[in-house]
Amino acid sequence: MARPLQGALIGFGFIAEKGHVPAYLAAPDMFEIVAVADICAARREKAREVLPNARIYSDLKTLLQAEAKNLEFVDIATPPCDHAAIAHAAFEHGLHVFCEKPIATSSADAQSMLDHANKVKKVFFPSHNYKHAPVIKAIRGVLETNELGPIHLVTLDTFRTTHAKGVAEWQPDWRRQRKTSGGGIAMDHGSHTFYLAFDWLASQPTSITAKMSNLSAFDTEDNFNCTVTFPTGIAIAQLTWNAGFRKVIYTIHGANGAIKVEDDDIEIHRKRAGGKVDVEKMSAASHWMDASHAEWFKALQVDFKNQIGRGEWVGREARDAAACVQLIETAYASARADGRELSLAPERATKAG
Ligand SMILES: NC(=O)c1ccc[n+]([C@@H]2O[C@H](COP(=O)([O-])OP(=O)(O)OC[C@H]3O[C@@H](n4cnc5c(N)ncnc54)[C@H](O)[C@@H]3O)[C@@H](O)[C@H]2O)c1
Repeated sequence: MARPLQGALIGFGFIAEKGHVPAYLAAPDMFEIVAVADICAARREKAREVLPNARIYSDLKTLLQAEAKNLEFVDIATPPCDHAAIAHAAFEHGLHVFCEKPIATSSADAQSMLDHANKVKKVFFPSHNYKHAPVIKAIRGVLETNELGPIHLVTLDTFRTTHAKGVAEWQPDWRRQRKTSGGGIAMDHGSHTFYLAFDWLASQPTSITAKMSNLSAFDTEDNFNCTVTFPTGIAIAQLTWNAGFRKVIYTIHGANGAIKVEDDDIEIHRKRAGGKVDVEKMSAASHWMDASHAEWFKALQVDFKNQIGRGEWVGREARDAAACVQLIETAYASARADGRELSLAPERATKAG
C-alpha cells in the first residue's frame, strides 16, 4: 500500500482543528499530518493535544527548514493576508498546496500563486468545500439531468447574525480587521457564493455591480449585495452579518423550472403542459449550522489527492478561486464607485499541468 501523503498544517485555528484535521484523521491511509506551525503559543498547545505525533513549530520558516524534506504538501489555514506568502514559500520548497478561501486578498496575488504552481509543477488546490455539501451535490444531480433547461438566473442569499469568529486564543475578530482579512463579508464569504454561481450558470462572469455597507465600528463591510452578469444569465447575491437568523437560501431558475434551497430543504419546480407546475420536495442533511463543515472536507481532500495523482497543477478549482478573488476585488471597486457596473478581465489562460 502506498504511504499516505505527508502534510503540514500552517495555522491551527478553528477550521484546521474542527474541519481539516477530523477529515485527515478519518483517512489515515491517504493523509498524515506530521507537522504544524502556528504563531500563537496556546494554539500550538492545542495542536499537541489533537495531533500528539506531529512536530510543532512557532513559524512557517522554521517548519519548512526542518520538515520540507519529509513533506509532500502544506495546508494553509491562516487568515487570508498571509495565504500568498505561505503558498510561495511552500512552492519554493517543492510542496503541493491546499489553501483556504479566499486564496488571496488581491487578484495579482491569486494569479501569482497559480503561476508559481505551474512553474514548479506542484498542485495548488483551494478549499471550495461548499461544493461537497450534500444539498449542493443534490442540486448538481438535478442540473446534470438538464430537465430545467439552460439556467439563466441564480440568487444566493447568506444570512448570518454576526461575523464568524476565529479561535479565542488568537484574534477572534480578525475577519473585521482589513489588514488581516483583506475585507469584510465580501472577502470572507464571496468565494463560496461565486464558485457556486460559476458552476450553476456554467460560464465565467463578465461584469459586476455591487453595494456594501457597514453597521459596525470595524473597518470592514458587514452587508454586501451584487449583481454579476454572465454570458448565460445573471447571479444576484446578498450576504449579511446583520441578519435576524442564520440561513442560506439559494434559487436556480431555468427555462423549464427552478430549484429552491433553504438550508437542507430542496424544492424542485417543474413546468408541465398547460401552465401547471409540479413541486417535488426533498431534504439533504448538510449540517449548515456547524460552521466547521467537517463532513464536507473529506471529499474535498480526496479531490486534492487525486489532482496530485494526475499531475494537474492548476485545475478548474484553482482557476475558479482566482476568478473569485478577481470578482471580489472588482466588487469593492464597484461599491467605491457607487455601484457602477465594472467589466471583468477575461480569465487568463493558465496552462494546465
Ligand atoms: N472553507 C470554510 O468553510 C471555512 C470556514 C472557516 C474558516 N475558513 C478560512 O480558514 C482560514 C482560517 O480561518 P479560522 O476561522 O480557522 O481562523 P482562526 O483565527 O480560528 O485561526 C487562524 C489560526 O492561524 C494562526 N496564524 C495566524 N497567522 C499565522 C501565520 N502567519 N503563520 C502561522 N499561523 C498563523 C493563528 O494563531 C490561529 O491559530 C481563513 O482563510 C478562513 O476564511 C474557511
